[in-house]
This record gives sequence, C-alpha cells and structure tokens, in this order.
Amino acid sequence: MAEAKQVVVVGTGYVGLPAALMLARAGWRVVGVDINENIVRAINDGVLHLKEAELQELLHDPQVRQNVSARQSPCAADVFIIAVPTPVLPRQKVADLSYVVRAIESLLPYLRPGNLIIVESTIPPLTCRNVVTPLLERSGLRVGVDLHLAHCPERILPGDVFYEIVHNDRVIGCAEPVGREMARAVYASFVTGELYLTDDVTAELCKLCENTFRDVNIALANEFAAVAEGLDIDPLEVIRLANRHPRVNIMRPGIGVGGHCIPLDPWFIKEVDPANSRLIFTARLVNDEVPHKMAARIRRAVAHIMSPRLVAVGMSYKPDTEDTRESPALEIVQILTADGYQVTHFDPLVAGHEYTSLAAAVKDADCLLLLVEHKVVKEAWSREQDAVRAAMRTPIVLRFYQDD
Ligand SMILES: NC(=O)c1ccc[n+]([C@@H]2O[C@H](COP(=O)([O-])OP(=O)(O)OC[C@H]3O[C@@H](n4cnc5c(N)ncnc54)[C@H](O)[C@@H]3O)[C@@H](O)[C@H]2O)c1
Repeated sequence: MAEAKQVVVVGTGYVGLPAALMLARAGWRVVGVDINENIVRAINDGVLHLKEAELQELLHDPQVRQNVSARQSPCAADVFIIAVPTPVLPRQKVADLSYVVRAIESLLPYLRPGNLIIVESTIPPLTCRNVVTPLLERSGLRVGVDLHLAHCPERILPGDVFYEIVHNDRVIGCAEPVGREMARAVYASFVTGELYLTDDVTAELCKLCENTFRDVNIALANEFAAVAEGLDIDPLEVIRLANRHPRVNIMRPGIGVGGHCIPLDPWFIKEVDPANSRLIFTARLVNDEVPHKMAARIRRAVAHIMSPRLVAVGMSYKPDTEDTRESPALEIVQILTADGYQVTHFDPLVAGHEYTSLAAAVKDADCLLLLVEHKVVKEAWSREQDAVRAAMRTPIVLRFYQDD
C-alpha cells in the first residue's frame, strides 16, 4: 500500500476488534468506534477485553499500536466496517436491526464519494438492499455510484479467532463489480484463505445457511439421543456406530444450542421465507427444548433426595470459552432454580464464578452437574474424581454426552 488508508470499524466486540487489529497489522490506519466507553478506553490503554491470548499480543505489537486508536463516534475514512450486534427480537423472532440502523446513521455526516461500506454483522437476506442502501443514500450519495456497499459475513470461532480470521475462506457480496473488487482488496490485505466474490443477497443467505446447517444437524443428533435414551441404550454408541457408514456424519448431541450465532441466524431465514423454512423452524424448536429435557433428567436423578443441593459447573454456551451469551447451561440452572432447587453455579473461565477446586466446590452437595466440560474441567474431573465424590453428601454426578 503506497499510502496508509483509513478504515473505521464500527462496533469493536468479538468480530470488530479482531478485524481492526488485523487491518492495523496489515498497515491500515484503523479507528475502532464503540458506544461502550469502557471498550474504547481499554483499546486505547492496550488492554484486550476478549479472552484471546494471541490478539492481546497483537495489541501490544508497536506497529499495531501505532495504527490503532478507538473513540466513541465515527470520523471520515476510506472504508467503514460495521460489526454491531444483530440480535433476534425475543417475541417476534425477527432480526433486531436497530444497532445496524444506528451505526449506519452515525456514519452519514462522514461519508464522501468513493467510500466503501462493509457490513460484517449477520443480517437477513435483502437487508443491504432494502435497509442499508436507503439509509446510506440519506447522505445524498448514491450506492453503487458514489458509495460502494458490500456484505462480508464473519465465520470466526471464539477462542481461536487469531487463526481463523486469517485462514478461513471468506465470502464477499456486493451488487456491483467495483465495490466487490474494493472489498476484495480490504480482505486480501490480511486473509490468506480464499476470497469468494458474489452478490450481496447470496452472501447474506450463505452466512445464514452455514449456521442453520449446524443448528438442524445438532437438532437431529439431539433427537437421536432422546430416542436412544427412551430405549435405554447409549446415544453416543449409536451415533459412533452409525458414523462408521461412509456417507454418514452425525453431530454430537448436547445440552442445547447457545452463543451469539447458531440459535439466532435460522430465524433470519424463516423471517424472509416462512413457507420454505419448516424444517429450520422445527429444528429451532427441538434445540430450544433440550435444556428443559436436561432439567427433567436432573430432577429425576435427585427425586429421592429431600431438598437436594446441586452444584453446576460450566456457564458458557460451549466448552473453552467464557462467552455466556444464550447459554443453555444458564437456562438449565434458571429452570431448576425457578423450580425451587438450590443450585450453586461455577465456571472456572467466567470471571467472578471460579472455584478454588472442584472438590471444594462440591462440599456437602448431593449432585454435581458437569454442564460444560472445559478442558480444565475435564482434567480436574479425571484427576480429582475420587476426592470430589468423597466431598459430596450424596455422590451423584451427571455428565452430558461425554466420551470419557
Ligand atoms: N461473535 C461471533 O463469533 C460472531 C461470528 C460471526 C458473526 N457474528 C456477527 O457479528 C456481529 C457482531 O457480533 P459480536 O459478537 O462482535 O458482538 P459484540 O456484542 O461482541 O460487539 C458489538 C459491539 O458493537 C458495539 N455497538 C453497538 N452499537 C453501536 C453503534 N451504534 N456504534 C458503535 N458501536 C456499537 C457494542 O458496544 C459492542 O461492543 C453480529 O451480527 C453477530 O451475529 C458474530
């Protein structure tokens, strides 16, 4: 790059901040914009608010530090990347685009001809055309002529962001070829995976298909597990043997589907085409029901104990992350607590909920629920299980679909 170009990243959370740091490493001048002043302060102080060790190192790299700053409102730039949340409205089950709308509105005073705006947030099909384009054109500039709008959805795995943001293939969608090539140049500066260029609607739906594929297949595994349990056979043994078929690859059942993406994104497909989303909708219902089934299983396990004391371990939505968004483990504990059970909840990765040792955590308990088996939890369990059982008043231990 002859002259360092400026990029503004709006929303510096799990998705926006890693992108900002990678762009800064690639030589861009990057301004991270976030309405959360604590996040802005942390970035400017060189403190990473995400648990990603390699990204923290990157934030300390002198070249990166020199190229990155953060602030609470946007400024002029060559490229704007939007990485704000897109939750689902809880009752209507449609995308809440209010964060995207406000983020785009905040850019309007700073837009100038030649700007590229990239939406990385996950959005329902046609959002770029029907929502973002008219908003951008309030600036007086025309999308596809003066401004270029692309959608480049993110695929990173929290916990392994540093590797994945560089190595994953990316889909870049834009309605016109100039914007498409401009967006390619942005990602080519730090992505070594393949860059696939397409139109905006294809890119929007493609991202949703990826997560919906996982949701539907997890629902299938969860149904197989429930059927196997009804027959009093081992669900993992059934799945392991079925997967010996050369064209079968059943996923692992679990305690429910959580996180910021998989339980949300299928709703965005149903929102645009309910008539053709019956399987997708049913899979969502199946997965949403799983925490209730797990709570019923726990109730049965302690039914013979008067006022049982339960200890649950694992709060995050999956192993080896501190991210508790949409966590089925939290939901299971909420269901049990609402039923009147006394549940103490720990997670060695979630700040404020750590235990000193697994054995200490279960002192005088009647039932240990290993809801989320982080690597450190698995290790502690295999090392301390005799001591854990000895510390309990009643040594009932429930694990959920674990091989060992
Ligand atoms: N987390 C993931 O692994 C992941 C993966 C792929 C896609 N996505 C998608 O990426 C998008 C962002 O997700 P995330 O996990 O980074 O969310 P996040 O909550 O971690 O970060 C979003 C940030 O945006 C900020 N923000 C909100 N409104 C703003 C505004 N108007 N101006 C400036 N900042 C604003 C928030 O303060 C927050 O820090 C979502 O659409 C999500 O579905 C997330």
